[in-house]
Amino acid sequence: MKWPQRALYIFLLGTVTVFAASSDTSSNILSPDGRIRFSIDVGQLGIPKYAVTFDDEFVIHPSALGLRFAAHAALERDFRIAAREDSANDTTWQQPWGERRLVRDNYNEGLFLFQSTSDPERELRLRVRVHNDGVGFRYEVPEQDYYDQLDIIDELTEFRVPEETFAWWVPGRGWNRYEYLYRKTPIEAVTLAHTPMTMRLQSGVHISIHEAALVDYAAFVLDQRRPGVLKTNLTPRSDGIRVKTQTPFVTPWRTIQISADAIGVLNSSLILNLNEPNALNDVSWVEPGKYVGIWWAMHLNEKTWGSGPAHGATTAATKRYIDFAAKHGFDGVLVEGWNVGWDGDWFSDGSGFSFTEAYPDFDIQAVTDYALEHGVRLIGHHETSGHISNYEDQMSAAFDLYESLGVRQVKTGYVADGGQMERVDTQGITHYEWHDSQFGVRHYRHAVEEAARRRISINTHEPIKATGLRRTYPNWISREGARGQEFNAWYSPPNPPEHTVLLPYTRLLGGPMDFTPGIFDLTFQGADSAQRVQTTLAKQLALYVVLYSPIQMAADLPRNYARYSDAFQFIVDVPTDWEESIAVAGEVGDYVVFARKEREGNDWYLGSVTDEESRVLRIPLSFLDAGQDYIATIYRDGDDAHWKDDPYDYVIEDQRLDREHSLELRLAAGGGTAIRFRPAKKAAE
Ligand code: NOJ
Ligand code: CA
Repeated sequence: MKWPQRALYIFLLGTVTVFAASSDTSSNILSPDGRIRFSIDVGQLGIPKYAVTFDDEFVIHPSALGLRFAAHAALERDFRIAAREDSANDTTWQQPWGERRLVRDNYNEGLFLFQSTSDPERELRLRVRVHNDGVGFRYEVPEQDYYDQLDIIDELTEFRVPEETFAWWVPGRGWNRYEYLYRKTPIEAVTLAHTPMTMRLQSGVHISIHEAALVDYAAFVLDQRRPGVLKTNLTPRSDGIRVKTQTPFVTPWRTIQISADAIGVLNSSLILNLNEPNALNDVSWVEPGKYVGIWWAMHLNEKTWGSGPAHGATTAATKRYIDFAAKHGFDGVLVEGWNVGWDGDWFSDGSGFSFTEAYPDFDIQAVTDYALEHGVRLIGHHETSGHISNYEDQMSAAFDLYESLGVRQVKTGYVADGGQMERVDTQGITHYEWHDSQFGVRHYRHAVEEAARRRISINTHEPIKATGLRRTYPNWISREGARGQEFNAWYSPPNPPEHTVLLPYTRLLGGPMDFTPGIFDLTFQGADSAQRVQTTLAKQLALYVVLYSPIQMAADLPRNYARYSDAFQFIVDVPTDWEESIAVAGEVGDYVVFARKEREGNDWYLGSVTDEESRVLRIPLSFLDAGQDYIATIYRDGDDAHWKDDPYDYVIEDQRLDREHSLELRLAAGGGTAIRFRPAKKAAE
């Protein structure tokens, strides 16, 4: 459909401005509250640039837009803004599960039509949404004569941030995918960085650059080309092309979350709002919950994934875990290493994995029957070691098997260095692909769709980054995509105390993370070993509230929970599905305090964690429901607690509180506080 007809049609919904050839070269859109302004300018050369201000200060200075192709003229210059179509939205939608049940989606939208001045038949559109918590924009390339099959070789989108900006980031295109320690540097020190990348401007305004709805495109990393100019660098396919596509197509949204302070970015729903609604209809079979598993013992080297005398995944051991899960009300038991293929160097070669054949000492039918009898479900596991062809060849059979056994959740794994996923073509030639290439993006989505057909949810490890697709595919229930707890078992250095304080402000802006908290034996190699968990025990509890995921593991060995059964009670009680979540205080990488209200219940929970600094925080309890007293059961660091010197010193105490109170939290170095607030009966007048 040509623009003028479409424009007339849209006129009923919004406002369309059709510009005459000589009209203005610039245009603005404001957020509903008027604080954010997105402006477009094509200047005299017809090169489209955008800029963003917050309270009239630049957060993004004029920055480039455009696309380049292998065999077609680029869409980057000689444009005029031929038309602009405006609309607005203020609706609220409901999540099937999530950090909050209701999500408000309030924005002003502009769809800009850029028309080539040399060939008016060629056009590029830019759809822009300006919310109160940030902006999203995406390219829309309509069907047109000249542009049909396209090989994108570069996306020109830039983010030019102000001078004196400070950044928290992990390097892009590295061998360890997203699993790096965060770097804290002035913006000039950024090289290639993954998103979400969070920054603090000199003014104190916080922004985070990311993308939403990465459906069939390459992920980008940010590439600092000139000081302060971060350019999208799309991850290539093995043939060097960044994206193979055809018109009409839309790119993922390029997003900038914006807030006056650090916690504002934590309370933003921008990424979810820019994704398409649930495509799966009834998803009542997607089940948030908590799980235990045959997992940490392998990371500690007590057990093996492969067969032999120390094999972890035996029928008998699994039944013991099922008993433990049933006794304490856990929903699932994850079992890794049950299937043939783990003997030998599985890390380097995933071609030997069978996804249907069990080791002889693991009777999968007996185990799943036993689990269901005890009200628990087996959680399946597919480690691919990045051999995508081996996995895709078996995928249908693998999910069919799990479906037939009543398995509702599968953890997948893609342990392979960045750029080393294996794809074998029809000629038998192996190609090496990046996890975050268009090839990877398509594979992960394919697995989630295949699983959905069998009412199975997916928890991806070594995933593609989270861009909010959980809204469209609610069975994509969680993922890893950052350094998780496992690094504490075997990587040097393990996660420092600030790591879990950085994650909410960075990785988790994309969506839930399967971090696997809850290690109680923090010094498993002895108190003198550097290989340990660098937190207090109380901080492990707080992580259940701080690091949002609808599935949470109690990652430690059952025997360690028996040693601290009073603290374990918090893990037993804490929900994983929330009516509301509020970040109430925090600074990036220093500390954070989250309050969350359970879904279908009246309890509130609070989680607070600090980095290597001890702190005293006074937190108003104004999030609690009005007119209600609560019994707060507080799990806090003891007076001598310290992640290194005394991590096991914790105190559990009750207090009667209401929303008029404020509470002093005393966090030890590397410590935390976890609180359950239960409604109390009002004292007699
Ligand atoms: C890496 C995953 O993150 C971890 O959880 C898993 O145990 C191993 N791969 C083996 O699949
Ligand atoms: Ca991992």
